[in-house]
Amino acid sequence: MADYFPGFGGHFETEAVPGALPKGRNSPQRPPFGLYAEQLSGTAFTAPRDHNRRSWLYRLRPSAEHPPYRRYDGAKLFAPGTLDKPLPPNRLRWNPLDLPSEPTDFVDGLVTMMANRSPESLEGVAVHVYRATRDMERRAFFNADGELLIIPEQGRLELLTELGRVDLSPGEVALVPRGVRFRVMLPDGQARGYVAENQGALFRLPDLGPIGSNGLANPRDFLTPRAWFEDRDEPFELVQKSLGSLWVTELGHSPLDVVAWHGNLAPWKYDLSLFNTIGTISYDHPDPSIFTVLTSPSDVQGRANADFVIFPPRWMVAEDTFRPPWFHRNVMSECMGLIHGAYDAKAEGFAPGGLSLHNLMAGHGPDVASWQAASEAELKPHKIEGTMAFMVETCWPYRPTRFALESDALQKDYDAAWGGFPKARLPE
Ligand SMILES: [Fe+2]
Repeated sequence: MADYFPGFGGHFETEAVPGALPKGRNSPQRPPFGLYAEQLSGTAFTAPRDHNRRSWLYRLRPSAEHPPYRRYDGAKLFAPGTLDKPLPPNRLRWNPLDLPSEPTDFVDGLVTMMANRSPESLEGVAVHVYRATRDMERRAFFNADGELLIIPEQGRLELLTELGRVDLSPGEVALVPRGVRFRVMLPDGQARGYVAENQGALFRLPDLGPIGSNGLANPRDFLTPRAWFEDRDEPFELVQKSLGSLWVTELGHSPLDVVAWHGNLAPWKYDLSLFNTIGTISYDHPDPSIFTVLTSPSDVQGRANADFVIFPPRWMVAEDTFRPPWFHRNVMSECMGLIHGAYDAKAEGFAPGGLSLHNLMAGHGPDVASWQAASEAELKPHKIEGTMAFMVETCWPYRPTRFALESDALQKDYDAAWGGFPKARLPE
């Protein structure tokens, strides 16, 4: 069983072997047991203290020891780039992608669906889908282009990371920081889900303003693994994504050999059912920013590089109010996915494992059936249950990949969701 510290962004220290963590020094002349000291930074050295993230790792071998990387072509749909031609400003929706028919591990089964900004810009976000049917036995992966927010939809994952083990089930999410090596095991034999890749400022908890000091995602519910390592001297592949393409090298040992570490840059997981959902108790529909779990700020105040937002089970009690999202056209671009259940603004067509994209200024909102039902509903207190949708909202318009635009999973008739609304009737 994995073992965790509670807290978000705290300074943790942990050793898998007693005495492995140096006392009072980050990089002593001779670390215990001949371990190698290595700093892993998540922010610039001079980032403000509140946002500064780094950890010190004490490992069996320095991670600098490796042969040159060469291009990797195993993951054919991961980070393949987007179309250069003009992108139609249409609303798009995809059915869930099938699991692969050949044995495929987490990395090879990653499919990039949409992205914005280039990794060189240190901004932007990409949304991928993973479909895995095979464990990563002697292969590890890391992403030099950003941190990875892993959002399982079906099947559990065991994330074996440099800094510890994370057991992950649908309904939970996990974050693997930029550069942290990991491999993915499949306790259920297969798994599918989403990955939001954040190339910009690290995800943090949103400020709460007048909400006060409690609410939304509470820091104590984020769980960071304690040190764990494997001492395996056998051939390992190490795959990385760097500047949008994949590279591989071979090691004679597992790169997951960090015996002890301390710092505040580390993987974590979070159970979405613990989100303290806040909404109206009088009238009107608040902006979905009230459901923000994590935010990655841009350089413009209040305009997120990426927000991770959820639509969890919750009570609906507003009076004289259209309770689902009203029609809207936003300057931010919205990618939505569904972990389980149904989403309250769509009667059908948005299945768990599917995706939708509403880029900036795309008019959208409830479909006709949802509009009709919500307009006529008797507004008694009502609990939306058994659902978990999410949104990766960003100030940078998404470009779907060639795969996403040419996939059979792309729905041809999505615009029909907004067909057939009766015209408003003005007085004679
Ligand atoms: Fe929307």
